[in-house]
Amino acid sequence: MKRIYDAGFFKEFCETAANMYRLGWDERNGGNLSLLLDENMDDYFSYVIRTIPISFDASELAGKCFMVTGTGRYFKNVQEHPEENVGIFRIGKDGKTAELLWGYSDGGRFTSELPAHLMSHIARLKVDPLNRVVMHSHPTSTIAMTYVHELDTNKFTHTLWQMSTECIVVFPDGVEVLPWMLCGTNEIGRATAEKMQSARVVIWSMHGIYGAGRTLDETFGLIETVEKAAQIYLLTSRLPRVNTITDGELKQLADYFKVTPKAGILNP
Ligand code: 13P
Ligand code: ZN
Repeated sequence: MKRIYDAGFFKEFCETAANMYRLGWDERNGGNLSLLLDENMDDYFSYVIRTIPISFDASELAGKCFMVTGTGRYFKNVQEHPEENVGIFRIGKDGKTAELLWGYSDGGRFTSELPAHLMSHIARLKVDPLNRVVMHSHPTSTIAMTYVHELDTNKFTHTLWQMSTECIVVFPDGVEVLPWMLCGTNEIGRATAEKMQSARVVIWSMHGIYGAGRTLDETFGLIETVEKAAQIYLLTSRLPRVNTITDGELKQLADYFKVTPKAGILNP
């Protein structure tokens, strides 16, 4: 049997959680993280510790294994005490149970946002079979921006693209914005997953952000870029705007870096 603490993905997951905390994205138990595992978990674990019911039909992911932060758990503590704060489970054949292989060691369970995570994994895998990560956090500037900026998805994306030169290159697919909704529900999960069909970033107004990507680094970087743009927006929005990045310049960037910006945002 291999030791889970030696697995590269395991170390990277814990490091990522620590970085999310360090950047102030995950106060208290704010935020949650899920990683679809490629490695065969039979090499690490030989039995199921217990099963935990799932509140929706995740049968599209049956047999797949995930590493997921626990509900009520502090990101601050993940790296020091992963076994209590994180779990690894397989989705049962019926799609309605999580077969716990490791973690949640003091009787805990996966994040309350599991619907948004698993439904987003399902949606992203259809668009990109290499998608592995769904990350939710509470970055300050992104949340603040949802209090003062129109929540229209295209207008929000346009503003963010203008806030820093690299934005259109990092998220040419734009960001999708959901209105305030009750969190932890299947409903917000479904709404998030629907938006994930066309974008890797979904902003939950007055709450936080969801990002999806192939690797932990890429997903972290995606949220980091959105958050920085939101911060620049907040720093500049009450000042007279003297300069800006024009739509023509945004198009130049897209052409040069060979990305296709989401249609309908830049003036033709
Ligand atoms: P959990 O503690 O259940 O992961 O919830 C945190 C959170 O951010 C809710 O949106
Ligand atoms: Zn949250």
